Amino acid sequence: MKVSSEERADALEERLMKKLAPSVRRGAGVLFGGLTPRGDPIELKPLAPMPPKPTLIDFFELRFMPHTVTHMLQSASDALKKGEPEETVLGCLLHDIAINLVKVDHGYWAAQMLEPYVPEKISWAIRHHQALRFYPDPAVGYEYPAVYRSLFGPDYVPEPYLEEAYQAARKHRWYMEARLITLNDDYSFDRRAKASLEPFVDIVGRHFRQPREGLGYDGSPVAHMWRTIQFPGRPL
Ligand SMILES: [Fe+2]
Ligand SMILES: [Fe+2]
Repeated sequence: MKVSSEERADALEERLMKKLAPSVRRGAGVLFGGLTPRGDPIELKPLAPMPPKPTLIDFFELRFMPHTVTHMLQSASDALKKGEPEETVLGCLLHDIAINLVKVDHGYWAAQMLEPYVPEKISWAIRHHQALRFYPDPAVGYEYPAVYRSLFGPDYVPEPYLEEAYQAARKHRWYMEARLITLNDDYSFDRRAKASLEPFVDIVGRHFRQPREGLGYDGSPVAHMWRTIQFPGRPL
């Protein structure tokens, strides 16, 4: 089966992110850190239990894959340094959150996961960063990522649904919010960059509507997505 360019782009982003932190795969209650030369999984430590009413911060600390956390923290740190509004910083902090659940169409999945809890503008921006990353906007300093050019060659054309999403987003009043996510998306994947969750805890507190019952238990249409991340090893 032919692999679509979008799938190749997502695979590349995933691979580059993994350069940031050790590759960790979660199994049934256990973290595995790759394979031994004989092919046996290397067990790191049991998957930590989560509190009964898990918060977004608990997911960052206990469930999200380290390479996605590092990448999102770097993006949010860049936005913070540039003095972007707190809501924009939150968007950068959460833009690739769905990669902890599924890779394909990660912008769309993330937007859905977050819609009940973040300002509408921010979930819209996260949905559209997926298409916008392929389209330069020199007026604001966003170039087509060199790493994509070297992978796809100069003739790469994004899938039609992405082109349509881009064209619609270009005319939308929230265009710049999505563009800022791509501007702060760190394509350098710098391993040496230090990033901590600490500067973002208050921003999350002010702009993320944490459900009283805990993520996964609030009866929202997306609660099951959060439960899936909480219990990745459940067989059914
Ligand atoms: Fe992304
Ligand atoms: Fe990203």
